[in-house]
Amino acid sequence: MREGYGGTGPGVITPDGCAVELYSRLPVGDEPDVIAAAVPAGAHILELGSGVGRVTRPLLERGFAVTAVDESPQMLERVSGARTICSPIEALDLGETFDVVLLASFLVHAGDTEVRRRLLRTCARHMVDGGCVLIQREGEDFHARVPRERVDPSGCTIRIVSSEPVGDGAHSVCAEYEFPDATWTQTFLSRPLSKEQFEEALEEAGLRVDRYLTEDRMWVRAVRGS
Ligand SMILES: C[S@@+](CC[C@H](N)C(=O)[O-])C[C@H]1O[C@@H](n2cnc3c(N)ncnc32)[C@H](O)[C@@H]1O
Repeated sequence: MREGYGGTGPGVITPDGCAVELYSRLPVGDEPDVIAAAVPAGAHILELGSGVGRVTRPLLERGFAVTAVDESPQMLERVSGARTICSPIEALDLGETFDVVLLASFLVHAGDTEVRRRLLRTCARHMVDGGCVLIQREGEDFHARVPRERVDPSGCTIRIVSSEPVGDGAHSVCAEYEFPDATWTQTFLSRPLSKEQFEEALEEAGLRVDRYLTEDRMWVRAVRGS
């Protein structure tokens, strides 16, 4: 388990505290629509932190080629139709480039600044000239509006129970996922990033914002910095 990360509930828990069974149950939201609107048809997408393929599957159905990367072999076992690579994202160096690199699921908010740097360098290293990186950020009130809960279309109640500062700008976040027959929890470290801090982090990795894709600025299209 990564330090500061953990999870409880049935089945395998990944090093960042995610439950394989939970992600197999959660339906996809608007992620494929946002992605498809921002990239060329038929693009080859390098999806970092794919999990069981919740987003991979609809991307394949839309005609994209996807290479799915995750550090959890048990997550990747459930991905079908895509090439899979089991690796920590920070260490990934495929010697290949892709039209699109996808870093979703708020991974850019890694608790450890050095891990974040390495994640973003992985994105830059694998992007073809003229390509783009799509990043999903936390909403601006992610850490302020706690506790909060919503019911997912699958019937899962998703609660952000707490977000507590743990020093040096990182927060420890507790999330709970409750189905009628099973409950999972995840604790993870998250480093809030203002728009300015996020853009600085991109610049450090040789990237810059091309445009924010959604009004809430949670989805970003980044390109090679000038
Ligand atoms: C919250 S889940 C989301 C999975 C998928 N993106 C989705 O939306 O369904 C995060 C996934 O990223 C993987 N992950 C997290 N940090 C990682 C890292 N540094 N390297 C490789 N995989 C990582 C976890 O194993 C997990 O499968």
